[in-house]
Amino acid sequence: MKTVDLVVRDAAQLITLDEPLPAEGNGVDSASLPVVPDGAAAISDGKIIEYGATSDIAAKYKARSVISAAGMVVTPGLVDPHTHLVFPATREDEFEMRNMGLSYKEITLRGGGIHASVRKLREMSKEELVEKSLPYLNSALAHGTTAIEIKSGYGLTTKDEIKTLEAIAELNKRHVVDIVPTFLGAHEVPVEFRDNKEGYISLLINEMIPEVVRRGLAEFCDIFCEAHVYNIEESRRILLAAREAGMKLKMHADEIEPIGGAELAGELRAVSADHLVAASDAGIEALAAGGVAPVLLPATSFSLGLQKHAPARKMLDAGLPVALSTDFNPGTSFTESQQFTMSLACVNLKMSAAEALRGCTVNAARAICRDGTVGSIAPGKQADLVVWNIPNYKHLGYHSGVNLVRFVIKKGNIVARNVNTVKGT
Ligand code: NIG
Ligand code: FE
Repeated sequence: MKTVDLVVRDAAQLITLDEPLPAEGNGVDSASLPVVPDGAAAISDGKIIEYGATSDIAAKYKARSVISAAGMVVTPGLVDPHTHLVFPATREDEFEMRNMGLSYKEITLRGGGIHASVRKLREMSKEELVEKSLPYLNSALAHGTTAIEIKSGYGLTTKDEIKTLEAIAELNKRHVVDIVPTFLGAHEVPVEFRDNKEGYISLLINEMIPEVVRRGLAEFCDIFCEAHVYNIEESRRILLAAREAGMKLKMHADEIEPIGGAELAGELRAVSADHLVAASDAGIEALAAGGVAPVLLPATSFSLGLQKHAPARKMLDAGLPVALSTDFNPGTSFTESQQFTMSLACVNLKMSAAEALRGCTVNAARAICRDGTVGSIAPGKQADLVVWNIPNYKHLGYHSGVNLVRFVIKKGNIVARNVNTVKGT
């Protein structure tokens, strides 16, 4: 009998998501989920050794420690593939202004929105940003998120973007959640370049992108491709420069108007295209043709009070690996809970619980190029697991507005626990 560090056992349902990716054409039925009843996982050195029926795992492995998941559900740790988690201050007044009738675009054009965050971030030190951000990472972890992408984009000068990316690197060192850094210098046109957008684009291409790459601070380059921010032609130039410099590509695409952002993501074979509320049918085809992962952000539509939602069903029908994310940011989505995202995905995007869970795990991992290490429970992958105090996985999304987590396990260690959950029966 082999000895392992940990066995998580007796799960009513062990949901591994250890299956071929839909885009590989292996016929994964997006609405169903393979479930191991009475499941267990053996873990050593922070990695999954094997999973299976509890009786089989218990017969094969002697555990140094054991976690009972009796009557509960075990899934991979959640992955959040699109956040703006490092920001200087909350913007609750804008939320209220929107609820009183102003639009996001109107607030931005009046100097609010991203501009308001930029003004404040420029006055803060890297250390202050780190201290501000740690509690949000704790909260994301407590709600089941074990890997997360974080973007810069509230600095908009070389110095302030680097400061933000260095804060993200520091958070990655100090916090157990795995962090993937993205450069979003093209989040807005800073006010000092309002009448000289070309000047800012040339700063991005000639100074910021090369400097970020030289310092190795970002894996991805993202852009806010939208009619009133960067149009298609400008986005193409900036993204091509980033790719040339060695970064992988992401896009905020077709969030408000269908300007062809999804088509551009397909053309450039970006890793992901995000938002996509207004994506056209041709755009969806382009995503499929370019192997682009769609990342949908239903909490943003919720916070903006939009009645229109991303065409998730069309994307799923096209075989796309639909991922979900919080878009956590102080302006348009102030939630760090992927559980909330799953509820909104079920109700507003008409996704099944299986599709929502896949969107927050294996497909989310793929959208940040981490599907080799996280997002599913499989031999050799990181032992990042959530034990949920629910009787079956369909309670994800259904039991809403409360934290359903019992334990979060990161690389084989319990890193968060929540004893005040009530299991619906
Ligand atoms: O994803 N669309 C642009 N960026 C964010 C909003 C950021 C902000 O308002 O601070 C988003 O919604
Ligand atoms: Fe965003």
